[in-house]
Amino acid sequence: MGKNTISLRGKNILGLEDFSKEEILLVLETAKEMKSIIHRDIKKVPTLRGKAIVTLFYEPSTRTRTSFELAGKYLGADVVNIAASSSSIVKGESLRDTLYTVEAMGFDAIVMRHKAEGAAEYASRIVSPVILNAGDGAHAHPSQGLLNLFTIQEKKGRLEGLKVAILGDVLHSRVARSDIHGMTKMGMEVHIAGPRTLLPRFLRDIPGVFVHDRIEEAIVGADVIEVLRIQLERMKGGLFPTTREYARIFGLNDERLRLAKEDVLVLHPGPMNKGWEIATPVAYSSSSAIQEEVQNGVAVRMALFVLVLMGGKSE
Ligand code: CP
Repeated sequence: MGKNTISLRGKNILGLEDFSKEEILLVLETAKEMKSIIHRDIKKVPTLRGKAIVTLFYEPSTRTRTSFELAGKYLGADVVNIAASSSSIVKGESLRDTLYTVEAMGFDAIVMRHKAEGAAEYASRIVSPVILNAGDGAHAHPSQGLLNLFTIQEKKGRLEGLKVAILGDVLHSRVARSDIHGMTKMGMEVHIAGPRTLLPRFLRDIPGVFVHDRIEEAIVGADVIEVLRIQLERMKGGLFPTTREYARIFGLNDERLRLAKEDVLVLHPGPMNKGWEIATPVAYSSSSAIQEEVQNGVAVRMALFVLVLMGGKSE
């Protein structure tokens, strides 16, 4: 990649804890180039012609799976999708045998989402294609963390020194974990708030991370607010009283938004529970970059494919 000496060729994208600041900057720089392709009339380049990619999703997804597929197709790769619900996984085929099966078909990369933390790392140890983690339990969602950084840098012109508030269900959020790794590496100040029952204790030990009981304390003076989805499907017990109570105490509404900087950027990884963690007017306000996040997801995933499969665009 031109003057860059670092290379991500062959790197398994498992979590942002494995990335250096320079590697993150390389992805963001490459994603900017990729975004220009998305805006062309003919959104197709031959960079990955001859490469084969499979998306293997054990959990539902709209944004991540579709944008990885689109990213591969825009770059000229052959992309095949496997959804657990319509594959031999429903006949009881194990993760290991499924991975061996797709490896035998000659894929160059496997994009994988699984409910178990460490599933992507396990895959990277037993098969040869490059693994791109599209979410493993509550552990990591690296491409979402990267697209958040890309969107913030695009909108704010910088990352270092920005105050970010991350609000809500951190306990079940792989997005929050990837954000925390990525944002602290890029010199951002991360303020976290939500119900005590949904804030894991380890957060307090991370340098650059500040934990608050009241969301107002996290929001005051924030440059960026990321609202997390309440993941009811992952909650086993009553971790907060009711969704109405949650909205009253922890929801991002207009009044609370006014505590942040005037040009604050609002992010949400989606899908949103509007009226719970985020008020509908805030989700569609001029501060919201939620749609841009989705568009940038395609560019960032194109960048990841180019970097891990080719080492860079110009090779
Ligand atoms: N942000 C995100 O992971 O969304 P999907 O579940 O729709 O992929």
